[in-house]
Amino acid sequence: MTFLSRIASSSSSALMTKQGLLTALVIALFSQVASGRTLETSSNGSTTFVWTIQDTYAGQTFFDTFDFYVGPDPTNGLVNYTDRNTAFGQNLVYFSDNNTVIMKGDNTTTLPDGQNRNSVRISSQKQYNTGLFILDLDRAPWGCGVWPAWWTLGGGQWPYTGEIDIFEGVHDNEHNQVTWHTGPNCTLTPTDQFTGTIVENNGQLNLNCDGTAQGNAGCGITEWSRASYGPTFDAQGGGVFAMKWDEDGIAVWSFYRAAVPQDIQTGQPSPSTWGQPVAMLLPTSCDPITNFVNHSIIFDITFCGDWAGNSYATSGCPGTCPDRLKDPANFVNAIWEINWMKVYKKQVLNGVITGSSSERTQATSWIWLSSLVALCWSFFSWR
Ligand SMILES: *[C@@H]1O[C@H](CO)[C@@H](O)[C@H](O)[C@H]1NC(C)=O
Ligand SMILES: *[C@@H]1O[C@H](CO)[C@@H](O)[C@H](O)[C@H]1NC(C)=O
Ligand SMILES: *[C@@H]1O[C@H](CO)[C@@H](O)[C@H](O)[C@H]1NC(C)=O
Ligand SMILES: *[C@@H]1O[C@H](CO)[C@@H](O)[C@H](O)[C@H]1NC(C)=O
Ligand SMILES: *[C@@H]1O[C@H](CO)[C@@H](O)[C@H](O)[C@H]1NC(C)=O
Ligand SMILES: *[C@@H]1O[C@H](CO)[C@@H](O)[C@H](O)[C@H]1NC(C)=O
Repeated sequence: MTFLSRIASSSSSALMTKQGLLTALVIALFSQVASGRTLETSSNGSTTFVWTIQDTYAGQTFFDTFDFYVGPDPTNGLVNYTDRNTAFGQNLVYFSDNNTVIMKGDNTTTLPDGQNRNSVRISSQKQYNTGLFILDLDRAPWGCGVWPAWWTLGGGQWPYTGEIDIFEGVHDNEHNQVTWHTGPNCTLTPTDQFTGTIVENNGQLNLNCDGTAQGNAGCGITEWSRASYGPTFDAQGGGVFAMKWDEDGIAVWSFYRAAVPQDIQTGQPSPSTWGQPVAMLLPTSCDPITNFVNHSIIFDITFCGDWAGNSYATSGCPGTCPDRLKDPANFVNAIWEINWMKVYKKQVLNGVITGSSSERTQATSWIWLSSLVALCWSFFSWR
């Protein structure tokens, strides 16, 4: 019997004792190492932490803690957002044979002139203040006149509590766009710390995130990958989007299916190992805590409207957007197919340790030394 399995096999019977608790602590610490898990360090270097699961949205319970939005589309889409019963009744939401979660626009009804197309917009009942939000999906909506988004929205008065558009695009675009909308006093810092391209407005980088200014453009970053939105994203099996929101700012990563990191698949995400994000809002020019408050998670699919409607004529799509809306065959790809969405929160491992780096090293060493002592003690007292 190895040292570790000895400890592991002793744990279940001894859990209620002090020795058992120490043993459990040691197992927890060792399993971090044994699983090859990377511990994360805060940017100021004073805390070590891991991202631990807070909420899982998947399978048959996916919609249980979401509200179905039924008002008019604030972005002026030609859409009729349906309530929960209508959405289930018309098969706009359902679960596939593989237990993936489906959310889609109506692709069966031929519409008369001027009637909006049925679709779905859902909003999480739970509100978050910081976290790591990860979405694994096989398909995301696209098509002429289609405008989907996976985003988070602050409670209270828009845009003062912020909006984070993590996944968004229109028509047959191939590049996902990440956008922030905030109150005044928040700008995007142009740096080489992300791989995407800052969206321009009249030939100028649009760095102002103020949602009350310049026609509500917000500040946006377009991904470089051609597989981050649209037909190519779906064709290669979808992938994973991740948004990290903490004191260090707000960062977004995306991974096409074959590139999804192992730590995401095993549920132990370590963003520090993912390389540069595609988009990043640095805290130096936009406080991520005060500008983003009480965020719900939203999925929607709208049609035409402020983005897909206004860009339609120059998109290469045929005819006009309102004409396009009438034929259900145009909306077979207006569909989300989701494997899971998970929200992780920080769990600090060594508390806050202040002082110089050598003091920090000593403190960290002390934690490992005490863990080792606890390990030896529990091993020998078990015998
Ligand atoms: C370092 O950052 C963490 C959050 O990541 C914070 O809790 C802590 O107070 C900070 N420590 C110092 C010394 O600024
Ligand atoms: C619009 O959605 C509501 C439910 O939210 C539904 O009752 C109604 O039938 C829909 N309208 C049309 C024209 O389908
Ligand atoms: C279920 O999974 C299998 C194998 O991964 C795949 O071939 C099939 O198309 C999936 N079915 C659905 C409804 O997604
Ligand atoms: C509508 O979409 C669903 C889901 O993708 C698909 O199974 C169905 O065949 C489509 N219906 C039509 C008439 O295209
Ligand atoms: C955020 O939510 C909390 C709890 O509901 C509430 O007390 C607070 O006023 C909200 N903050 C804002 C800015 O809306
Ligand atoms: C704007 O942001 C700066 C730095 O984040 C802060 O010092 C200042 O108080 C803010 N001003 C307003 C009006 O919120």
